[in-house]
Amino acid sequence: MTAGSPVAPVPVDLPEVLDRCRALVRPAMEVAVGGLHPWVGEMAGYALGWCEVGGAPAAAPGGKGVRPALAVLGAEAAGAPGRTGVPAAVAVELVHTFSLLHDDIMDGDATRRRRPAVWKAYGTGPAVLAGDALFALAVETLAGAPDGAAALRRLSAALADLLRGQADDLRFATRPWTGPGRVRPEAYRTMAEHKTGALLGCAAALGALLGGAPRATVDALDRAGRHLGTAFQVVDDMLGLWGDPAVTGKPVHADLRERKKTYPVLAALDAPHPAARRLAELLESDGDPAGAAALAEAAGGRAAALEEARRQVAAARTALAAVPLRAAAAAELDALPAFLLGRAL
Ligand code: IPE
Ligand code: IPE
Ligand code: MG
Ligand code: MG
Repeated sequence: MTAGSPVAPVPVDLPEVLDRCRALVRPAMEVAVGGLHPWVGEMAGYALGWCEVGGAPAAAPGGKGVRPALAVLGAEAAGAPGRTGVPAAVAVELVHTFSLLHDDIMDGDATRRRRPAVWKAYGTGPAVLAGDALFALAVETLAGAPDGAAALRRLSAALADLLRGQADDLRFATRPWTGPGRVRPEAYRTMAEHKTGALLGCAAALGALLGGAPRATVDALDRAGRHLGTAFQVVDDMLGLWGDPAVTGKPVHADLRERKKTYPVLAALDAPHPAARRLAELLESDGDPAGAAALAEAAGGRAAALEEARRQVAAARTALAAVPLRAAAAAELDALPAFLLGRAL
């Protein structure tokens, strides 16, 4: 940390709804992962925080379980029991885990959830294989659900978006920071909606679909999840610039070193502030990342990113308000943003 206070960390005591959904989904996750080749299953268990390298039980916290919770809440919002959404919850968490395994290889990030990333712990080839296996397992899990064909069409569309977003994310890293070839905030929004929003939207939509919701409700949940996911990605960008790796479990300043085009930096570069020019010069010369993070804050990148996250959350709420939802689930969905955004709202 070189300037300002750290971004509000993701709280360690997860809200009750995430715990409740995790407990509901965990047995089905174990059954699904238990069907994998044992070595691949161990890598999956390691990625999920269930075991250490070698298979000994782990006390690692794993992921927050946001996507499976959205699937369960999607089913409940449709008036169905939460368990109806479990196949969707399992599928989206498997896809998420697959995407992280491959993402850490693409990004060259060695740490995930406070532990060595799977490619560091097991090797790149095995990690690619484990990701592929999780992807296939997600498809198999969802295909076996009632309404499997419609659910698979939605999952495939979300996957296509996720891959499109990852492609843009990687290509944007080759673009200049300033000048005509620079990445505009609008292009960032599309990239973030694709790489992160699509799966959050798909999670909520699939839960509602399996819960028997009408098309308008399924689509509204999809839209809401996409906005929420975009907000989530903007906050993830902030954590990568000003977060504490001991809290986030992920590296800090890695995005800057990789020349990743994150929202706070793009917003800072566009700001009418003297620090914006100094930031541009530092970035173009691949200078000190900690100094760049400080300049991005001084130029207003942090405030602009929070504003953008708030706008996206407001759009998510507008989408949810347009359709009738079961009140208890709607209230839990409404409470998620404050948690997801590190209580920064
Ligand atoms: C991390 O997602 C990747 C992004 C899309 C920003 P999460 O923050 O949901 O990851 P875990 O599963 O909780 O670790
Ligand atoms: C998140 O990408 C999106 C996917 C993994 C599909 P990032 O690269 O921004 O996320 P972190 O920061 O590594 O979790
Ligand atoms: Mg990454
Ligand atoms: Mg990435």
